[in-house]
Amino acid sequence: MKRIFSGVQPTGNLHLGNYLGAIRHFVALQHDYDSIFCVVDMHAITLWQDPTELRAHTREITAAYLAAGIDPKACIIFNQSQVPAHAELAWIFNCITRIGWLNRMTQFKEKAGKHRENASSGLYVYPNLMAADILAYKATHVPVGEDQKQHLELARNVAQKFNYDYEVDFFPVIDPLILGSARRVMSLRDGTRKMSKSDTSDMSRINMTDDRDAVAKKIRKATTDPEPMPGPDVLDTEGELPEETRKQRPEAYNLLGIFATLEDRDLRAVLTQYEGAQFSQFKKDLTDLAVSRLGPMGEEMKRLKDDPDHVDSILRDGAERANAIAQPIVRECQEIVGFLRP
Ligand code: TYM
Repeated sequence: MKRIFSGVQPTGNLHLGNYLGAIRHFVALQHDYDSIFCVVDMHAITLWQDPTELRAHTREITAAYLAAGIDPKACIIFNQSQVPAHAELAWIFNCITRIGWLNRMTQFKEKAGKHRENASSGLYVYPNLMAADILAYKATHVPVGEDQKQHLELARNVAQKFNYDYEVDFFPVIDPLILGSARRVMSLRDGTRKMSKSDTSDMSRINMTDDRDAVAKKIRKATTDPEPMPGPDVLDTEGELPEETRKQRPEAYNLLGIFATLEDRDLRAVLTQYEGAQFSQFKKDLTDLAVSRLGPMGEEMKRLKDDPDHVDSILRDGAERANAIAQPIVRECQEIVGFLRP
């Protein structure tokens, strides 16, 4: 069976973008693939994390996976640092990836900010660890939001260059799965920025554990524009929203995309329903929809927060199974490279 690998960083504030762009797809795909879902704690520390919070957030992401409906018996759920193969393979990839490739990574530039000299070297080689995550399992399919596309292209290049340099056909070609109309959920305050865990304004995102009042308030206050709502004629013949059109009313189309995805309908149907309406009614409907979809998940996450032993036992079991797959692959890779194991 084809294999999926994907991961989420335990850096707090898990939000609607993470759910709609990624976790929701994990749930939908889990039975069609051999599926491995990771909590990438080693990636998280590329920016400093409080150790107590890192542990809590690691359990929180695990709880989100479970609450969203990932079956820990059918899939593997574990946290990255428990499986040494990730770090071992990442080192080899540090020696394969060219510095020029890393210099092109937009996410490094965003995260490092103005003081690039002061960023951790881990943040710089972050994409190599991500390539190692996937390739330690020879996974072929990687469901992610659009912001990870460039990293996956690099992972693909690393695999190819390794095969070429060592004249082997060892690592497979990676296929990103960037699916649905919420590939890039934007901030509720500014439709030109993506919804992000690290945005300093909590009003910019809907967190997975927000209660009804918080969701209602955030949607009510979400930035929109004074025009009535657009109709289906804004779509192209394929039913897609042209980028130029999106840019004209980014906040409006963001909310519409969220609505369509939460309701599992296509954008055309939603545009037809609300054509010419005012945002106030739409926002009320969106609130009801978001609360009905996210509410039960948030509740289950809170319940699991009080049962850390259960969550830990899933991570322990997952790590054992992950290790059993990754270790032999990475050992073989080390042999190809020429590491002596006398
Ligand atoms: P992270 O933790 O930033 O995000 C987790 C997943 O959520 C998606 N996502 C979004 N999707 C739509 N709209 C948004 N506003 C939005 N924000 C985040 C991300 O694309 C991602 O799929 N580098 C990864 C974690 C990672 C990984 C991997 C992923 C590490 N190793 C191997 C896949 C395979 C990250 O930082 O995701």
